[in-house]
Amino acid sequence: MAYKIEVVVGSLRRESFNKQLAHALTKLASDQFEFSFLDIGTLPLYSQDYDSNFPDVAKQLKARVEAADGLMFVTPEYNRSMPGVLKNALDWGSRPWGTNSWKDKPAAVCGISVGATGTALAQQHLRNVLSYLDVPTLGQPEIFLKHTDAFFDASGAIGNDDTRKFLTAFMQRFEAWVQRHRAGK
Ligand code: FNR
Repeated sequence: MAYKIEVVVGSLRRESFNKQLAHALTKLASDQFEFSFLDIGTLPLYSQDYDSNFPDVAKQLKARVEAADGLMFVTPEYNRSMPGVLKNALDWGSRPWGTNSWKDKPAAVCGISVGATGTALAQQHLRNVLSYLDVPTLGQPEIFLKHTDAFFDASGAIGNDDTRKFLTAFMQRFEAWVQRHRAGK
């Protein structure tokens, strides 16, 4: 069986380290897992006024999330929290009231930043929101990464052997998490 994972990257930056990390992680996964990336940058800023007439771009986001077997959040930290663009996407997917598309989708969170805290606080805020949205989120291992020039090699893969092994183990845990939740459906 193939498992479909939607990847949500919390940065819109063209050369985003988190986007690079997300792509590198997908290459560490087994063949059974297929990844696609949600485009959260084209969503307007959410307003409750949209609830009576959701724009197509938000309907498409909800449909993609609902069709997924799991979710992978890869986010930078902005001012000790998640970027607004990511929170905006979470808000869109949670509405209109009673149609929370994120519910019950097994998820993992990780991130990379240039700061020493490695997105720890952004992830903690994100976990809080995911908990409210009824998203079962993998607890361990936690992935807090600090970007350095050698973090990615020229091909975009994880440069350091130990980091690559650690992230491979993370992806294996995530796969098992998704499989366990899908089996329980
Ligand atoms: C940052 N950055 C940052 N880094 C961090 O470790 N903790 C923080 O709280 C913040 N705050 C913050 C706010 C804003 C508005 C910006 C633009 C940046 C730095 C951040 O880690 C760095 O810009 C990363 O490169 C962002 O991730 P992407 O876009 O490369 O994926």
